Amino acid sequence: MTGLCLGIDFGTSNMTAYVEGRGIVLSEPSAVACDAYTGRIIAFGREALEMTGRTPKSITVKRPFYDSAVSDFNITVRMIKRFVDRACKGTILKPNIIAGIPSDITELERKAMRDALEMSGACRICLMEHSYAAALGAGVSFSKPEGTMVIDIGGGSVDIAVVSMDSIAVSKTTRFASEAFTDDIIKYLRRERDIEIGYLTADYIKRTIGGAVIRNEEIALISKGRNIVTGTPINFEITSTEVYWAIKEHVDMILQGVKELLSKTSPELSGDIYENGIVLTGNGSLLFGMDAFLESASGVPVRLAKNPGYCVAKGLENAVHDRKKVKKSGYEFVYAESI
Ligand SMILES: Nc1ncnc2c1ncn2[C@@H]1O[C@H](COP(=O)(O)OP(=O)(O)OP(=O)(O)O)[C@@H](O)[C@H]1O
Ligand SMILES: [Mg+2]
Repeated sequence: MTGLCLGIDFGTSNMTAYVEGRGIVLSEPSAVACDAYTGRIIAFGREALEMTGRTPKSITVKRPFYDSAVSDFNITVRMIKRFVDRACKGTILKPNIIAGIPSDITELERKAMRDALEMSGACRICLMEHSYAAALGAGVSFSKPEGTMVIDIGGGSVDIAVVSMDSIAVSKTTRFASEAFTDDIIKYLRRERDIEIGYLTADYIKRTIGGAVIRNEEIALISKGRNIVTGTPINFEITSTEVYWAIKEHVDMILQGVKELLSKTSPELSGDIYENGIVLTGNGSLLFGMDAFLESASGVPVRLAKNPGYCVAKGLENAVHDRKKVKKSGYEFVYAESI
């Protein structure tokens, strides 16, 4: 196959690119800032995300994958094109792109992704489920008839899968994930304390003092917001216990998903999972105590993968290196019209 191979994990929160021979070269928030009137892209990635809540009316920050990849197709295509151009700068030939997709992607979304990649300049395309790529990237060996559960907790989706014999035996995707925790914190402060905060502040609170378990020693931080009643800016304190309760319902829903999938897994594979355990990938897994919570609530040993946010991209890299092997599992680079 001629041309450069590029692996891209198009995540709801972050896009990560692997380039053949160069490793992981780029990771940027999936965000663009556009001129509200002309649609022209003004900023991209981290630069765009940092403008959230700080732009004049003439500029809007968009996160095209947040609702669905097809929600704003034109913006999606332009954002992907920017990302591809940046990842393979200096390359003249059209790249072959392997992209990570959610396991439960609809036909419409699959088609949109294919079209977006083609319009962004891809030559051949291969679409690989997040769970499969995450398992490869986390170093799970799943060639044998033995099951392991992989849970990829991203920003917008939790992909749970049991992998065995080089394929996905059963899987389940929930269309909410760590960004739902962030929204929970915003809603909690508005509802219970009449405080309004922006997305970036809520994300910082989640990462710094959030948790899937109550901490032995409560911690707190002082943050900036706006009093909804008076309209004035305020400094306020929020504790780890408050954040724990604010996000608990969504954390519990992830556990529910795990239990549902275990109940649909054959007794043989379930037995293997209790032995081999669960591997956590995705940056959402970095929430304090997520591994301990899932382990104690499910009774299955849980391991957090190394660099969890890069596992999907790393798996796409492994797939490019071992094209023959993944071809047997149905993953092949083809021209867009044949997907
Ligand atoms: N240390 C941390 N603690 C808690 N959450 C974190 C931490 N670091 C990152 N996150 C959260 O992880 C989420 C992004 O995870 P990731 O980059 O794996 O998502 P994604 O691949 O873009 O999304 P998806 O796979 O759902 O499409 C964000 O919501 C971010 O706030
Ligand atoms: Mg992801």
